Amino acid sequence: MKRIVVLISGQGSNMEALVHACRRERWPAQVVAVVSNRPHAGGLALAEGMKVPTVVVDHQQFASREAFDMALAAAIDKYLPDLVLLAGFMRVLTPAFVQRYEGRMLNIHPSLLPAFPGLHTHRRALEAGCKFAGATVHGVSSELDHGPIVIQAAVPVRPGDDAATLGARVLEVEHLIYPRAVQWWVRGRLRVDHGVVTQLDGEAQWLVRDSVRPATPT
Ligand code: GRF
Repeated sequence: MKRIVVLISGQGSNMEALVHACRRERWPAQVVAVVSNRPHAGGLALAEGMKVPTVVVDHQQFASREAFDMALAAAIDKYLPDLVLLAGFMRVLTPAFVQRYEGRMLNIHPSLLPAFPGLHTHRRALEAGCKFAGATVHGVSSELDHGPIVIQAAVPVRPGDDAATLGARVLEVEHLIYPRAVQWWVRGRLRVDHGVVTQLDGEAQWLVRDSVRPATPT
């Protein structure tokens, strides 16, 4: 049984999708704790509702990033995790923290990396005139929103989209690809070679959602 700790900062919909998929698909794994850096994150109640233990490590209580990351690691390590999942965890992590979980920490980012690392991805994709947007699950390296890409999903940008409508469309596919990536990881179905991730059974490491609906004729 692989032990999974999920880190959140907000509503926790990706965390919820992960817990459900883990149970429904009977992964050889268990989400043993959900850790939030925000005491009022909506995802905490969601986790409690699913009977997953929760922990808060409030970053505002720490004087430095290093001190916060050390306390966070101590809280995580109590659960002896095999895998740490960042699921809408909105903190930049120190190199020491990243190194500690190297090879066993994944993140989901709401863009088609390497485009748009960082914040406000949907607004930036719209401003750039992108016709596709999407999300990426990747291994965590010390460079923000970099690291080996496990799976990506693309969705169309539609006329009239704003950051909220596009973000909602992307979030739907996040809920599909993050569980898929984690399932591969816990079953040992991924190989990383020079930063390139291969799914060992040849399963598609991409998802394109609703890409063929034609533009409305004028
Ligand atoms: C997701 O879009 C995630 O990719 C981003 O923040 C959002 C978190 O959503 N980093 P949730 O908390 O999982 O609902």
